[in-house]
Amino acid sequence: MLGRLNHVAIAVPDIEAAASVYRGTFVMGAKVSKAVPQPDHGVTTVFVELANTKIELLEPLGDKSPIANFLKKNPSGGIHHVCYEVEDIYAARDQMVAQGATITGDGQPKMGAHGKPVIFLHPKDFNGTLIELEQV
Ligand code: CO
Repeated sequence: MLGRLNHVAIAVPDIEAAASVYRGTFVMGAKVSKAVPQPDHGVTTVFVELANTKIELLEPLGDKSPIANFLKKNPSGGIHHVCYEVEDIYAARDQMVAQGATITGDGQPKMGAHGKPVIFLHPKDFNGTLIELEQV
């Protein structure tokens, strides 16, 4: 069963510029993390903490970044994925697959940006939205 919305991820061409939008008066001083390079994931991340969820800013890192193509199509950035919490990533995956969903990559959970196992569900099954499931 799907749990809470953990975060909404926004791909951006310039993460410091994007983070400063959230640090500034425009968003009234939201709690914004430092930029953290995540070479294993091909992205640099900044998390913006809100009362009920988070915004994850993503900037491509290296030449094989999984968000490079997305930014080619959306040069000024855009919503890249939404992340829902699940209690058991394997049970959630098996249930999704049984209902016909497609898991991206090799179908195995990977350590996500928060050090928790994640999988991604193909957007074609979810109204064009890439879905991340994170075990919490
Ligand atoms: Co994410």
